[in-house]
Amino acid sequence: MDRELDLCRRRAAELGAVAVAVELSDPSSTRSAMESAIGSLGGVDVLVNNAGILRMAPLLDITVDDWDDTFDINVRAMLLTMQVAATAMIEQGTGGSVVNMASMGGKVGSPQQAHYAASKAAVIGLTRVAAMELGEHGIRVNCICPGYVLTEMGAATRTPEQVAEWSALSPLGRCAEPNDVAAMAVFLASDDASYCTGEAMNVTGGMVMH
Ligand SMILES: NC(=O)c1ccc[n+]([C@@H]2O[C@H](COP(=O)([O-])OP(=O)(O)OC[C@H]3O[C@@H](n4cnc5c(N)ncnc54)[C@H](O)[C@@H]3O)[C@@H](O)[C@H]2O)c1
Repeated sequence: MDRELDLCRRRAAELGAVAVAVELSDPSSTRSAMESAIGSLGGVDVLVNNAGILRMAPLLDITVDDWDDTFDINVRAMLLTMQVAATAMIEQGTGGSVVNMASMGGKVGSPQQAHYAASKAAVIGLTRVAAMELGEHGIRVNCICPGYVLTEMGAATRTPEQVAEWSALSPLGRCAEPNDVAAMAVFLASDDASYCTGEAMNVTGGMVMH
């Protein structure tokens, strides 16, 4: 599910998966896309909430619209997708796993990212309470806190000097690749993580160790 349907369709074709259009800032689109995806797949065992937005602005310049958009997409949509998926998982009686994308920003923050950092701290809190409430149904809920990942997010403003500076913050001397984060999501989704729930797992190359 993504609002970029063409991209989503291409990826789905590569994977033999189903592509569904969603606008996560719209609650009714979010709920109906989830129901459509679950219907097409014949059930749901794993939900990965990966989509998110980052808008940079100094604290004193953050607008109410930027704050609301960030929370609507990064946090509220996650509540809605979890409500639909967990309801289906409970009806199935099979348990399940939810993986939410938080960020290192949700633990330590960064200048010009107050709205983003607050939204990702909210993801960590939402994940913990969801884990507490859904555990009795065999549903595990965890989140991932990536560091700097070289994706489209922030690419427009990212300079080679910044990449070098961020890389030096990691004991491993590099930024993350998308696969570093995907591997953690696969682990948390799988039975290998059967006793992990409510966790906020760092994938920061050692930039954050708590
Ligand atoms: N890139 C990083 O350095 C980094 C670091 C920490 C956490 N994260 C988190 O990882 C996740 C993935 O980020 P990314 O780096 O791949 O970003 P990205 O911008 O490359 O991809 C984000 C995806 O979310 C989708 N999306 C955004 N708003 C949407 C909406 N309203 N409705 C439907 N889909 C929407 C976009 O179409 C896009 O496919 C995000 O939650 C982000 O906050 C990224």
